[in-house]
Amino acid sequence: MGDSLFADTVRARASDVSDLAVALEDDVSGDSADDLYPRLLQAARSLGGRLLIVDADGKVRWDTFGEQSGRRLALAEVYTVLHGEADADHGFHQLAVEGQRQAASPLDAITRRDVSRVWTGCFAAPLMSGGARAGALLLVVSVQDTVDSLISLRDSMLAVFGAALAAVLLLAGLITRIVTRPVAELSAGIERMTAGDYQHRVRVPGKGEMAQLAAAFNQMSEQVHNLDEARNQFVSNASHELKTPLSTIKLLVESLLYEENMDPALRREFLGDIDREIDRLSSVVGDLLTLVHIDSHKLKLRRERMLLSDTVRESVRRLSPLARKRKQEVRVAIDDPCEMFADPGKLAQVCYNIIENAIKYTPEGGKIDVKLHSAGRDAVLEISDTGVGIPAEDLPHVFDRFYRVDKARSRETGGTGLGLSIVQQIVRLHAGSVTVQSEPGQGTTFTVQLPLK
Ligand SMILES: Nc1ncnc2c1ncn2[C@@H]1O[C@H](COP(=O)(O)OP(=O)(O)O)[C@@H](O)[C@H]1O
Ligand SMILES: [Mg+2]
Repeated sequence: MGDSLFADTVRARASDVSDLAVALEDDVSGDSADDLYPRLLQAARSLGGRLLIVDADGKVRWDTFGEQSGRRLALAEVYTVLHGEADADHGFHQLAVEGQRQAASPLDAITRRDVSRVWTGCFAAPLMSGGARAGALLLVVSVQDTVDSLISLRDSMLAVFGAALAAVLLLAGLITRIVTRPVAELSAGIERMTAGDYQHRVRVPGKGEMAQLAAAFNQMSEQVHNLDEARNQFVSNASHELKTPLSTIKLLVESLLYEENMDPALRREFLGDIDREIDRLSSVVGDLLTLVHIDSHKLKLRRERMLLSDTVRESVRRLSPLARKRKQEVRVAIDDPCEMFADPGKLAQVCYNIIENAIKYTPEGGKIDVKLHSAGRDAVLEISDTGVGIPAEDLPHVFDRFYRVDKARSRETGGTGLGLSIVQQIVRLHAGSVTVQSEPGQGTTFTVQLPLK
């Protein structure tokens, strides 16, 4: 913008000088030199500058300031015009002026720019006489005003640019704060969690992506917290389960050691007790190992074509001595062989555990019904008993690890409280489900559903 403004001014000045040169041609070539000077003065006044006329040698003949007459001018633009290299030429020069000018811009004042000199423009045009260049007309005007306005334009552009830059920086800073604050908070939360503080929750401002991330993090730390508690609970339960038989064994062994003249019958009884406690220990350890195996996802099902009916019959056969001992009747009703592609060993564990529970938690003389049929794409195994039943408040927990409704009775019957949680895990691995219904004092029914084929 400044450039085109300046170019316009220059062009106007150059054409002024060329026009004047043409108008003055007659006066210069003629001898009416006396007419020339007043005209020159008048033109200089109307152009607001200083006019000079030089001859073909570059020597000043007329100067409206009267200073340079007779001297030779060594200006490039005069030389160009005199030697016919161009029809008009101009140049800009910094000339010293009397006294100190005021700096045009605050920037110049700060940088202490030299303002003792002003910019002048020298516009030259040839004076023709009989087709030849007889001299040159030179207009000298101050262009300081234009330069000043360019400088102030530059200053205001700098100011606008500076303000815009400041605004952008401010905004960037603000956005960075808005974006990084939640990130910093989240990473602080992660650090606390790494250090073992699972109860810490990060704040959830708004509902943008960051808030979603924070919510997901909180959910995750809650899960980790729950897992951590479950693990602690599991370890403490397991230790307790192992400790009880060990204390009993220690007590019995000590009695055998220190009682010199023990009755052989009593001694036999003690040894029998020790044997039972060892069985308990090994069944707890075995169940624990099975659970840990399932938990660590290392357990692979060994699937094969099998008939669930065979597995059920086999479990009943293995448990029939126990049922006979308790004078219980086990009735088996198989409607469908239920062919499936599954792990027979694992499913035998399921059947055995549930039927064993039914026998254990049913008083002598009770009845146990084992029914197998297919429904749609599922095999349905129902095991019901006429036993003690499970109170409603305990029902949701029977599949929990180490959970026993009646601790004393379960221990007495050799239970670990792990059987049903193993059952549930195995059924889930087979993409099936296991549910329980019970009426205290009336009996209990466990229902296992497994996909056929
Ligand atoms: N058929 C049933 N009748 C009554 N209670 C049962 C029955 N099956 C399981 N329970 C209850 O559920 C608890 C958990 O069973 P389980 O995991 O097999 O452990 P346990 O080693 O004690 O048998 C048992 O201690 C018992 O209190
Ligand atoms: Mg059991």
